[in-house]
Amino acid sequence: MKVGVLTGGGDCAGINAVIRAVVRQAEEYGAEVVGICRGWSGLMKPNFIPLDYDQVADIISLGGTMLLTSRTNPFKTDGGPQLVMNNVKKAGLDALVAIGGEDTLGVAHKLASLGLKAVGVPKTIDNDLSETDVTFGFDSAVNVAVDAIDRIRTTGMSHERVMVVEVMGRDAGWIATHAGIASGAHVILVPEEEFEIEAVCDTVLARRKAGKNFTLVVAAEGARVKLKHGQVTSNQELDQFGHPKLGGIGHLLATEIEKATHLETRDVVLGHTLRGGSPLAFDRVLSTRLGVAAMDLVMKGRFDRMVALRGNAIVDVGIEDAIKPKVLDSSLLSVGRLFS
Ligand code: F6P
Repeated sequence: MKVGVLTGGGDCAGINAVIRAVVRQAEEYGAEVVGICRGWSGLMKPNFIPLDYDQVADIISLGGTMLLTSRTNPFKTDGGPQLVMNNVKKAGLDALVAIGGEDTLGVAHKLASLGLKAVGVPKTIDNDLSETDVTFGFDSAVNVAVDAIDRIRTTGMSHERVMVVEVMGRDAGWIATHAGIASGAHVILVPEEEFEIEAVCDTVLARRKAGKNFTLVVAAEGARVKLKHGQVTSNQELDQFGHPKLGGIGHLLATEIEKATHLETRDVVLGHTLRGGSPLAFDRVLSTRLGVAAMDLVMKGRFDRMVALRGNAIVDVGIEDAIKPKVLDSSLLSVGRLFS
């Protein structure tokens, strides 16, 4: 049995721990593992490295991905899908473990109809995959955000300012909501609910009137202003999966808040900081369990499936269902808004 492993889309903390676990469990089964570099790109223009236990030793704590990553979509190239399938065959790969989010796993699912035998592992800081309680990388990203926001809070309080913090999450408000609740934000803005800048300013002014000279706003990069704007993007280009580059809502908000309230306002974009660095213990354990389970699924011949966390159990679910966006739990948002 020869198994390929690839990592696609945005990196996050915990990917190397998954790779390590896949390789370790493969050795238990006497299977060979090949690393495919730069996501699907490494199967269009073959780019492989052999992976044995020595190569993955001591990487559980390392951020990023030792296999590198890309946002390559084979379905955007004429003959791309067939090229991938031919290269899988030429390399003698019996199965593939695809570590990725909706885009990477979406490709694996589409290729299943051409005969690809793949198992998915849910990776994204955005936590927006269905059928799993959580994706690995999310918890570490939220903790990085909370650590940064705690620092922003002390300087914001000292200067009696409004501080606007923009966090990643694309079309999902999971990071903003968790980071907002955990850091005691006074306003949490998410893509799932349009908001009015006037309402944010009213909160800031009401707090001021109540003697609170500091306000903390946590805004998801994909948050939308009612009637005026769609999402704020840093440029108009779309990636191969049709996503724009989001960014700028924090700055826009800070400018508008300062204009309307005449209170000093600053914005901070946490951006890629959330994706980098070492995984926390929760993600190291989850990634390790998911990697082991992915290899078990391969050996059972259960393909077009994704390993997932439900409660405290690792289960497997159809990739087709998993790649549907996971809707933000509105009760979480209500909890966050209690504190505004
Ligand atoms: O999907 C993960 C993510 O970090 C999103 O939260 C963000 O919008 C996007 O990737 C950024 O992608 P890139 O690193 O390509 O700019």
